[in-house]
Amino acid sequence: MKVVITESEKNMGIQAANLIAEEIRKNPDAVLSLSTGATPVGCYKELIRLYEEQGLDFGNVKSFNMDEYAGLSKDHAQGFYYFMYKQLYEHVNIDLKNTFSPDAVNENLAESIQKFEMLIEQEGGFDLILLGIGRDGHIAFNMPDRELKLSTHVQELSESTMNDNARFFDDKSQVPNKAITVGVKNIMDSRKIVLIASGEAKSDIMARFISSDSISPDLPATVLKLHPDVTVIMDKAAAGKLNGTY
Ligand code: GLP
Repeated sequence: MKVVITESEKNMGIQAANLIAEEIRKNPDAVLSLSTGATPVGCYKELIRLYEEQGLDFGNVKSFNMDEYAGLSKDHAQGFYYFMYKQLYEHVNIDLKNTFSPDAVNENLAESIQKFEMLIEQEGGFDLILLGIGRDGHIAFNMPDRELKLSTHVQELSESTMNDNARFFDDKSQVPNKAITVGVKNIMDSRKIVLIASGEAKSDIMARFISSDSISPDLPATVLKLHPDVTVIMDKAAAGKLNGTY
């Protein structure tokens, strides 16, 4: 894993955006999978700037949400598809027909999952996935558990993750307790992986993740250690507890 520590959160976002832009320039038909949450917001701002000022062309880019809360529709203000629409899609020349997310309002989630898996396969998997990380080490919504699921599945969310994500809702009681998420094989099949982390709140998990010399379902991000092309970008605050073993 390549580990990059940046002076600021802004710089973390810029460096992640540069890797995405490099991928798009090399491969205008790139298939991306982009994460939600607070961490990637600066990265998307920078991608918008690159589109506006340097003509970074999203015209043939495909983009997959990697997860979605069960029960939230594509136009739900707290949903992850809507997040991507507001933070990136509506500001660049991506064709909305090329933006995908699991159908989380289908009463038959198994059917949504199957369709989503087929779609990922049809597009040949992801060229680049941009991951954040939860304070418990989750990636997308692959939570610490006895085992990690390989493909897209329904995930029960832990109390601590629901608490963490309550900041995006008016009230904690509105946070769904289940989500559809890609599995670790979908992530590991991505040709390139970029993981970003910022802020002091991520410093404990980043120290555990970076220094871990084993793969453990208790810390799902450790599976990334087996991938040949991972770049971890974190700001100084998130790197604050690293002990120099990376
Ligand atoms: C969420 C998402 C993840 C995200 C993580 C961190 O629950 N499912 O994809 O990486 O939490 O979010 P944040 O960047 O807000 O800390």
